[in-house]
Amino acid sequence: MSALTVSGPLRFSGRLQVPGDKSISHRALMIAALGRRPCAIRGLSDGQDVVHTRRAVEALGARVEDRGAHGVIVTGGLAGARGAIYLGNSGTGIRLLTGLVAGRGFTTVLDGDDSVRRRPMDRIIDPLSAMGASVRGCGQSASLAPLRIEGRPLRGIDYTLPVASTQVKSAVLLAALAAEGPTTVREPAPTRIHTEEMLAEAGVRVERRGGSVTVWPGEVSPPDIDVPGDPSQAAFWLVGAVLAPDSDLTAGSVYLGQARGGFVDVLRRMGADIAVDPATGDIRARSSRLTCTRVAPEELPGCIDEVPILAVAAAAAEGTTVFEGIGELRVKESDRVAAIVEMLGALGVQSRVEGQTLTVVGAGAARGFTGGTLDSRGDHRMAMAAAIAGAVSSGAVTVEACEAIATSYPGFARDLARSTGWTP
Ligand code: S3P
Repeated sequence: MSALTVSGPLRFSGRLQVPGDKSISHRALMIAALGRRPCAIRGLSDGQDVVHTRRAVEALGARVEDRGAHGVIVTGGLAGARGAIYLGNSGTGIRLLTGLVAGRGFTTVLDGDDSVRRRPMDRIIDPLSAMGASVRGCGQSASLAPLRIEGRPLRGIDYTLPVASTQVKSAVLLAALAAEGPTTVREPAPTRIHTEEMLAEAGVRVERRGGSVTVWPGEVSPPDIDVPGDPSQAAFWLVGAVLAPDSDLTAGSVYLGQARGGFVDVLRRMGADIAVDPATGDIRARSSRLTCTRVAPEELPGCIDEVPILAVAAAAAEGTTVFEGIGELRVKESDRVAAIVEMLGALGVQSRVEGQTLTVVGAGAARGFTGGTLDSRGDHRMAMAAAIAGAVSSGAVTVEACEAIATSYPGFARDLARSTGWTP
């Protein structure tokens, strides 16, 4: 296990091209694997999660050929895999693939690391079973991975999500492609819409109305795709630039669609100097003084993956910030509620959890962080949030088990060096 030590305060400047969006990369590979004609994907995320999805679609029968830096040509065709498919740390990978194979004519076993084996799968098993699928958890309980999926004929359903989860919506919509009749998914709050956007672009009949989306079964014919930059990765650098002195950083060509840019709204409300160029996807952030805010439950799905780094921003703000409706954070790659409280405690910042609300008592400035040592808990986003906290504090932060970062951002340390001059 290796450790990363970052001490500040550093200055963030220049322009960074963050890796290709992880959510879009997973879907691009999966949808292309269903396609009939070869499809070029450029700018894929180089994170391990996406590498696992690539290997999964290859194991299922698709052909993926490398074409230079993060570009591939995918020739679709799913025939079934020989052994169990390992998805590493990826909840998105295992849940979406379960939907993808549920209505196909073969049996698939999907597995992952210890974190994936702890994550709730009943949330996909329930709606997929209602469609006629056979999905069985073979882990510690019948709702935990490894998952055994026996391909069955499926029927369309009208399903209201009990939690606002894109992964669940997407698993159902991907299964819907092989079902009889249309499938409708209704969501309690707006979540990311990559699956329905990309299916529509691939020629599938998709209708979106208010909080619902309906997909009709059929062939997919995905166009070539350029994966835009990942806003969730950009968020680390942008918060770094806001909190550090004399900083001015631009994250280039970032995806700006529904439910991905919520963190920009939260930071702006706190007083951050952030400008978004909708034409290019460039987001520019400059040093700012932050004040506290309230993040409401209905806002959370739009910034769910950015809460760890927003908590660092809240820790540096003037006043007390509350994040409401945080329950879903407990079932991410780690229990992020516990992980955030531990991280802030190590930085010398007070926080507490009452029911579904996380309260952070801001130190007033990031240089007030004391620095300390933290275990990543195997969670890439916690590791990166802690590293940025180190970069803006006057102490040193050591992140133990920092190899988790490669789950989504193998070039994180390189980009930290590029944007701040940091040396390991
Ligand atoms: C993702 C959806 C989100 C997010 C995850 C990626 C996706 O999960 O937290 O990192 O690509 O669909 P939920 O939809 O379960 O909240």
